[in-house]
Amino acid sequence: MTTDIVDVDDLTAPEVADVLDLAADLKSAQQAGNGRRPLADQTLAMIFEKPSTRTRVSFETGMTQLGGHAIFLGPDDIHLGHGEPIKDTARAVARYADFIMARVFDHSDVVELAEYATVPVINGLTDDAHPCQTLADLLTIRERFDGFDVDVAWVGDGNNVCQSFVVGSAMTDIDLTVATPDGYGIDDHVHERAADLGNAPAETTDPDAAIAEADIVYTDVWVSMGQEDKREQKLADFEGFQLTADRVGDRPVMHCLPAHRGEEITDEVLESDNAVVWDQAENRLHAQKGLLAWLAE
Ligand code: CP
Ligand code: NVA
Repeated sequence: MTTDIVDVDDLTAPEVADVLDLAADLKSAQQAGNGRRPLADQTLAMIFEKPSTRTRVSFETGMTQLGGHAIFLGPDDIHLGHGEPIKDTARAVARYADFIMARVFDHSDVVELAEYATVPVINGLTDDAHPCQTLADLLTIRERFDGFDVDVAWVGDGNNVCQSFVVGSAMTDIDLTVATPDGYGIDDHVHERAADLGNAPAETTDPDAAIAEADIVYTDVWVSMGQEDKREQKLADFEGFQLTADRVGDRPVMHCLPAHRGEEITDEVLESDNAVVWDQAENRLHAQKGLLAWLAE
């Protein structure tokens, strides 16, 4: 039986801590010039239905640094999406590769991939979840605040990145408030999972009320990949939710990137010293190395 990371709560809270500890160890070893290679001769197959900069480059680089190899499989590189079912792709690729990472639109597709693959499947983003981003975010917060005793305000869409962060926050006891326009909150089942983990987020439609109590402010795009046809409606509905310098003050600001400057965040905030977005981006590499090495143990 393999462990699949379809969302953060496929790990237990102690396992999240173990992955982050391993990530931190691998990060310091790499930075000291003593990189370790526990995945020698192992291969990660990376299936991408959507574009990616950070996820693709950090997973591929991570496999290289761990002594293994990664194969990029874009939308036109394999038969998936061109007639071959997910379950056949899963079983065939698992006969070659030691891990599969997949970025797909429909969350149920990564669930099906995990059901049929006999090697660990890692969700590299679906319309509903982005657990690898959350692991990097938790590493970033832990480094900056020496733990998780922080108040975070999520301001924007209750989207894939938000939903995994809600679950990850519940597992680490981060005090999270999610501020979204009416109708754009997190799914009920995500709230329930966080509640079952003992720490459901507060939810509001008032961004300033959420920010007032916060040590950190986190946002993401209002128009996610695949929502381009809803763009005009969403830009109108999210009016008043932009992170501006006045609004965030001296609080650190997180963003998973890519950002749409002038929509959810101003150029000024993103280019300011408050932005911790490059640490977050770098920590995608370290967190995923920790996850891969942990899965291989
Ligand atoms: N944050 C993130 O997943 O970025 P990419 O879409 O560039 O992979
Ligand atoms: N919510 C964004 C995240 C991109 C990393 C999207 O799904 O497009």
